[in-house]
Amino acid sequence: RTVYLDGRFVPFAEARVPIMDRGFLFADGIYEVSAVLEGRLVDNAAHLARLDRSLSEIGIRNPLSSEEWTRLQTELVASNGVREGLVYMQVTRGVAERDFAFPAADTPPTVVMFTQEKAIRANPLAESGARIVTVEDLRWKRRDIKSVALLAQVLAKQAAASAGVAEAWMVEDGAVTEGSSSTAFIVTGDNRLVTRPLSTAILPGITRQAVLRLCAEGDLRIEERPFAVEEAVAAAEAFYTSASAFVMPVVAIDGYLIGDGRPGPHTRRLRELYMGMAL
Ligand code: PDD
Repeated sequence: RTVYLDGRFVPFAEARVPIMDRGFLFADGIYEVSAVLEGRLVDNAAHLARLDRSLSEIGIRNPLSSEEWTRLQTELVASNGVREGLVYMQVTRGVAERDFAFPAADTPPTVVMFTQEKAIRANPLAESGARIVTVEDLRWKRRDIKSVALLAQVLAKQAAASAGVAEAWMVEDGAVTEGSSSTAFIVTGDNRLVTRPLSTAILPGITRQAVLRLCAEGDLRIEERPFAVEEAVAAAEAFYTSASAFVMPVVAIDGYLIGDGRPGPHTRRLRELYMGMAL
């Protein structure tokens, strides 16, 4: 397996980052994840735009143009022969003697990129639907930035794993913010699609944006507002979205079945529409 590190393609086993890297010491960095389907990147321009925005919000210079990112991603996907999976990108504030404040402005950011093979389309979980749990949202106040500081998400996902389920939805003041690595949606009995509006409280999901666009053509009315766990449990359908899950039906929340406990028709349709767009 080949990975990308600081300007070079290198074998996986040879890719090493110094212990003084600020990503390692402070989680001082940004990441991004794009899906690969049939060997092609999905909605990648939007992921690169969010990467650029996240970097600029924390004052790290984007070391590559979108064209350069795309060329490197494409080369890596091809050289690893990835047909279906993910490309992971990370940029940290670089390597410097440990000090909280930023290092000298000429410190080069550390750039890492690797691919992962993963069944996204032929994911059996999408057929059965995912069971999820809810956990308290323990994160900081700038969740719109795709920071590598992911401890709260790690704990949330582990709570899901311990419960034997696929995802955890995080809750703040009684309302769902988002999944530990996904955007949360519900469909009400009267055909309204409900998801939280964009703000600093959630990551602006690229798949979220695509699903809302696809929805504009259907019979669902879009309502961007927070929703409570109780409303989600009583909803007709629920699902979550991400680059790695696409549109994933939710069939149980904290052990309570959603609808009849099977993926709902709107969710299935949106998954198919999304897949059609991605291909
Ligand atoms: N996670 N919300 C959070 C907190 C996320 O971490 C993610 C993505 C999303 C969905 O965003 P998008 O549709 O752009 O993938 C929402 C990625 C996949 C990850 O951390 O692996």
